[in-house]
Amino acid sequence: MKSLWKLSLLFGMAMVLSGLAQAVDVKIGFLVKQPEEPWFQVETKFAQKCGADYGFEVIAIGVPDGERVLNAIDNIAANGAQGFVICTPDVRLGPGIVARAKANNLKLVTVDDRFIDASGKYMEEIPYVGMSAFNIGRQMGEALMDELQKRNWPIAEVGFLLTTYDELDTTRERTEGAVAAATEKGFPASQIYRAPIIGMMEIPTSLTAANVILTQYPNVKYWIVGGPNDNSVLGAVRALEGNNHPVANAIAVGINGTDCINELEKATPTSFYGSILGLAGVEGYKTSEMLYKWIKDGTSPQLDTRTVGRLITRENFRQVLKEEGMD
Ligand code: GLA
Repeated sequence: MKSLWKLSLLFGMAMVLSGLAQAVDVKIGFLVKQPEEPWFQVETKFAQKCGADYGFEVIAIGVPDGERVLNAIDNIAANGAQGFVICTPDVRLGPGIVARAKANNLKLVTVDDRFIDASGKYMEEIPYVGMSAFNIGRQMGEALMDELQKRNWPIAEVGFLLTTYDELDTTRERTEGAVAAATEKGFPASQIYRAPIIGMMEIPTSLTAANVILTQYPNVKYWIVGGPNDNSVLGAVRALEGNNHPVANAIAVGINGTDCINELEKATPTSFYGSILGLAGVEGYKTSEMLYKWIKDGTSPQLDTRTVGRLITRENFRQVLKEEGMD
């Protein structure tokens, strides 16, 4: 009888302990470089949705510079988090961020901008989810060329204004993808004018970059316009407007699809024709889910996951956003 009691006591204790194990309070940080950009707002919203679905807490923090990244890592650790997802403000901070995560015993998944080490190589051992950048850039180039062909503009009179951001690999690959697609479809490389963005990729910095080209080539009659993301293309569109270039004589296509909705909703069309919609929501959800399962079950995340894009224009954006669960 006594041993039966002991047995049931042990059994009871085991139940309590397994209950405790299940109730582990998972918390993750979700750290993004430009929290004001809709792309990152969508990502964060879906990270939070993932947290609500699985029952864990997401601490969202904007980290526009290195100091704020390190502070955020210390803060989430002090708040009991076991890991974080990050889009770093500078990919060269990678080794420092990894060291800080280790010191705080935090797991780490990267999104959008992939860490590079001191020798400039990707830190492939750190899980990464991001755009299939070259392909998405190709889609931008193809969309521009398709629309250009529809409008029957004489190629000799067209310039390709391409804002660029080469210090970041994902954005360099996108603009190079666009160049590859355009030249393969017969656009002369000598009529492609690159406008490097100095500072952050924002509308004002892109406007300044584009203006340099527009001042250098005042006689170009028609422009096709691309760039690494929506804001860098919107800046170029604003520069064309500032130079009184006729709206109908330019075709601009962005990337992200999240930061151009106001533009597509404008009652009067601008030269901004469309964007390659990326999967910000999927990236936010997936990175959080990977991290959660890693913390909770020890499931190692996939090291390199790429997402695709889809053209949206004034005509189809509402429908596509609905289909992608992003409306
Ligand atoms: C970079 C850009 C963002 C967005 C993401 C997508 O981080 O700054 O605007 O394009 O890539 O991966």
